[in-house]
Amino acid sequence: MDYALVTGSSGGLGYCIAREFARHGVVPILTGRDPESLQRASRSIEDVSGLTPLSFSGDLTEASAPAQLYEYVSDRGAIPRYLAHNLGGGIRGDRKNPPREVLRPSFRLNFEVAVELNALFYDDLTKLSAKILHIGSTSSLHYDAPPGYLVSKAAIIPYVKNAAKSFAEDGLSIFAILPGMLEHPGSYTDRLRARDPQRHARFLEGMPYGRFVPSADVAKYAVSLCLVDSPMINGSIVVIDGGAD
Ligand SMILES: NC(=O)c1ccc[n+]([C@@H]2O[C@H](COP(=O)([O-])OP(=O)(O)OC[C@H]3O[C@@H](n4cnc5c(N)ncnc54)[C@H](OP(=O)(O)O)[C@@H]3O)[C@@H](O)[C@H]2O)c1
Repeated sequence: MDYALVTGSSGGLGYCIAREFARHGVVPILTGRDPESLQRASRSIEDVSGLTPLSFSGDLTEASAPAQLYEYVSDRGAIPRYLAHNLGGGIRGDRKNPPREVLRPSFRLNFEVAVELNALFYDDLTKLSAKILHIGSTSSLHYDAPPGYLVSKAAIIPYVKNAAKSFAEDGLSIFAILPGMLEHPGSYTDRLRARDPQRHARFLEGMPYGRFVPSADVAKYAVSLCLVDSPMINGSIVVIDGGAD
């Protein structure tokens, strides 16, 4: 039985990635803060795949949470062959000259937790020739996003390129997917449509297919790249934005 640990997976892109793994017979390990959302996500994945996910509830940005997650997973003998670092997002107050109180949480949420989990799981992952996926953002290429978010996401790129060289010595492969603006129920673009239709329309103008990037589609790319029986994805930074500006 193979497992996939997907951080931030009770909703949004993480949920889509977890569901896609389950469709391919890989048991997802879900994480999120709200236990009810986790339960809903777990039930709906079970409905489509017949697999029962494991669920870890807690705020992963808390100091002890990554170690607790490691313990939860290893106690159940569920060391993942696939580790998908999807956790991330914006922090309130992240604009021009973000103060330390904004910058630090952004860095922790979007970058640091993932690196800490890699360190905790490292030895176990090497035994499974695991694949590690980091979800970044195209905003770190076009520099057009709140600054704390932007720099935290940008850090993923040199981290992955650097780790790709040394992790390969131990049989691991690591890569990143940088999605463009996503759409899924409750996504930023979904909420913007109702809140500010004109801004929503302006963003859409830059999208060649006249729609934002469906999270379900990014999940299909992400999981298919994980499942290819070759480590050669190692070090890749894959942009999935539908050809946006
Ligand atoms: N949305 C976009 O347009 C976009 C574009 C490019 C890249 N990305 C990246 O794609 C990834 C997914 O984005 P998304 O929009 O799908 O996110 P989302 O809809 O906000 O989903 C976040 C998920 O993470 C969980 N979560 C949030 N904070 C958490 C915490 N502190 N500890 C544990 N779980 C937590 C949430 O559950 P709870 O709330 O219950 O904790 C939920 O399951 C992120 O890394 C984001 O930066 C997003």
